[in-house]
Amino acid sequence: MDSQQEPPDPARISNDVTDDGAFASVRDGYDAVYDALAGSATFNRIWRSHAYNGEFPVEFAHIGFLTLGEANRMLAAVQVGAGDTLVDVACGGGGPGLWAAQQAGAMLVGVDPSAAGIGAARERARDVGLDARSAFRAGNIRAHRAHRRAR
Ligand SMILES: C[S@@+](CC[C@H](N)C(=O)[O-])C[C@H]1O[C@@H](n2cnc3c(N)ncnc32)[C@H](O)[C@@H]1O
Repeated sequence: MDSQQEPPDPARISNDVTDDGAFASVRDGYDAVYDALAGSATFNRIWRSHAYNGEFPVEFAHIGFLTLGEANRMLAAVQVGAGDTLVDVACGGGGPGLWAAQQAGAMLVGVDPSAAGIGAARERARDVGLDARSAFRAGNIRAHRAHRRAR
């Protein structure tokens, strides 16, 4: 697919779509996940040690499979520094995006359809002292692109 091409309109694929274009069942499912994660130290420990070898810093723990080595290679590839802004689409609880912003000295904008994920990301930003350098908003990649075009 041409990288400049817009992704297909989700409304044409399914009627399970929110006003800003995310799948409602996905958003609701992740809301439940992020709410449950806050109270499950055991799940967090098991995920961290098995999904990414326990090597990502615990204060930036996440629910993906990104290892610290992969994150370092991505950060080197994008070449961001102080004064730059990183955008983390599908940021969830904000772990990898905040880690990257801290490493690079950059600003972070995180976008995710899950309100619970956004809430967790804001709390984490405060915990790691990055709240002044980060902003999180509910939405998805389509809404984010439309917002940038409108500016
Ligand atoms: C596996 S989680 C990863 C979250 C985070 N990046 C991390 O590493 O912990 C996938 C995330 O994608 C988000 N997501 C699902 N549909 C999306 C969409 N259309 N636009 C942006 N994010 C979406 C979910 O809400 C969820 O937070």
